[in-house]
Amino acid sequence: MAERLSPDVYSAILIDHFQNPRNAGAMEDADAEAFVTNPVCGDSLRIFLKFEDGVVARASFLSSGCPASIATSSAATELVVGLTPEDAATLSRDDYADAVGGLPKAKIHCSVLAASAVTQAVEQWKAKAKA
Ligand code: FES
Repeated sequence: MAERLSPDVYSAILIDHFQNPRNAGAMEDADAEAFVTNPVCGDSLRIFLKFEDGVVARASFLSSGCPASIATSSAATELVVGLTPEDAATLSRDDYADAVGGLPKAKIHCSVLAASAVTQAVEQWKAKAKA
């Protein structure tokens, strides 16, 4: 584990998010949530979003994954706050990778979990609102 978290491989921002995840845990009063799994490695992420006044007011996550996926999930819960659901859904895996100071090439795919989970949570919330 220590070798995988080497500063030669990961940015200081990523290591900090991994070691001190922001907004970890379930959210009882979430307006939307989504669960995604990476079919290749099996890592997973459940994200929870709470909306107030037309923007994301809070976000939290539960994750079972690699340091890069945990760090990008943690960063996602900060990045989406204050955004409209539409804007949150348009954030890309590159945005989440940038938020942790970039990812090594072999780990770029790990930020897909955060991007997919946020997009799916927003889509589910919109579908619920229309029903
Ligand atoms: S190795 Fe599976 S998401 Fe990173």
